[in-house]
Amino acid sequence: MPPQISADLVIVANRLPVDRITEDDGSPGWRRSPGGLVSALEPVMRANDGAWIGWPGGTDNDLEPFVEDGLSLVPVALGAEEVEDFYEGFSNGTLWPLYHDLVAKPEFHREWWDAYVAVNRRFAEQAAAVAAENATVWVQDYQLQLVPQMLRELRPDLRIGFYLHIPFPPTELFQQLPWRRQILAGLLGADLIGFQLPGAAANFVRLVRQRVGHKTHRDLIHLPDGRTVRAAAFPISIDAEGFEELAARPGVAARAAEIRESLGNPETVFLGIDRLDYTKGIYVRLRAFGELLAEGELTVGHAVFVQVATPSRERVDQYRRLRDEIDRLVGRINGDFGEIGSPAISYMHSSYPREEMAALYRAADVMVVTPYRDGMNLVAKEYVACRLYNDGALVLSEFAGAAEELRQAWLVNPHDINGMKAALLEASRAGPREKSRRMRAMRRQVMEHDVRRWADTFLSELSCVGGRDQPPLRRV
Ligand code: F6P
Repeated sequence: MPPQISADLVIVANRLPVDRITEDDGSPGWRRSPGGLVSALEPVMRANDGAWIGWPGGTDNDLEPFVEDGLSLVPVALGAEEVEDFYEGFSNGTLWPLYHDLVAKPEFHREWWDAYVAVNRRFAEQAAAVAAENATVWVQDYQLQLVPQMLRELRPDLRIGFYLHIPFPPTELFQQLPWRRQILAGLLGADLIGFQLPGAAANFVRLVRQRVGHKTHRDLIHLPDGRTVRAAAFPISIDAEGFEELAARPGVAARAAEIRESLGNPETVFLGIDRLDYTKGIYVRLRAFGELLAEGELTVGHAVFVQVATPSRERVDQYRRLRDEIDRLVGRINGDFGEIGSPAISYMHSSYPREEMAALYRAADVMVVTPYRDGMNLVAKEYVACRLYNDGALVLSEFAGAAEELRQAWLVNPHDINGMKAALLEASRAGPREKSRRMRAMRRQVMEHDVRRWADTFLSELSCVGGRDQPPLRRV
């Protein structure tokens, strides 16, 4: 019998916070996925009989709700065609490029939209079924922007929050979307809509005023039915203490030394860690590094670039093409400059556990994070949290949300390859005092503003808006 769920706090996200694994005896099981979101929400979920609704990945369609590690998990099934049209199509072929400043061209297909509506409805129905009376429901990200309105129609008693993890585009770009009004109306079903940056919240409020004609005042939107919706910025963060603790483990320090050793103990290890995504600017940063080798500003043996590219959305065309382009570029640079036992670029198309990531962060002299556009970029914050001795340098794109907090990084415009080359050199040649001054300030910011604080702030602000009388969540 599946557990009967009546939750006071419901998280609705495209993915469940667990991955499918095969146990030692060959039976299928689940393992907690390492994201910061679940670690931040876990205590408040436990205190409030929390439930998490999400897609388990794949097209396994007969999964019942289950309890894993004390958390109630409610799988939402997707058919093969829905994976194509809702996930790969509308979510990642339309919204993803549109919301990332058209770094790639978004495609608009009516059948993708129909699947988006149908799948959002399924998530909303599932949330309506498991939420206790007057519960709080927190909907996550761009895949589920219609859920707040659909859920409010089904369950007007609920307090509903929505958080967008990716950028919200400038009004001129958003207007290209044939279903722009429906998306705005969907989001307005929430009481509180959270964005990464104040500029994104302002774009949203302006669009609502211009396109839907609702009255707005600062970050408040007044709806004709008397409800007030607030749109504001809540910059997300990481489990900073968790990363710091991991980086301090002797095993991680030893692994970091081993990584440097196996790279031939170069003077400068540059590091990039990204999902293999065209928004991340992996190509341009490797090109910049290649040009520095060609010009003799850097030399193989003294400098190496370690690039980890985590496989992602591999059935989407633009991602396939990107993989081929990067494979070719890495091959060319290594062919031109590499030597036996000393490649110029050490490239891994693979994902690693948190321990290995922490060891890589400890091993790297210069972390290179150069997205064309990024909602926040948590890798930049993870690197900072792992630099226990205030050393190391961060080269960071101005167009990552993290740049608003990590002002002491070497900030670069990823479209300006010469500027990026100069920043790579400057960061690698900076003296210890300069690096320490910058890193100390960034560490203070990251350690004080962690993901736990982000979740607490959002949930406590959510309990203050809407003007209805739900009981507050139990605090932890
Ligand atoms: O940041 C956006 C996001 O969709 C996250 O929600 C997710 O963890 C990550 O990108 C990976 O995406 P996907 O779920 O498509 O593999």
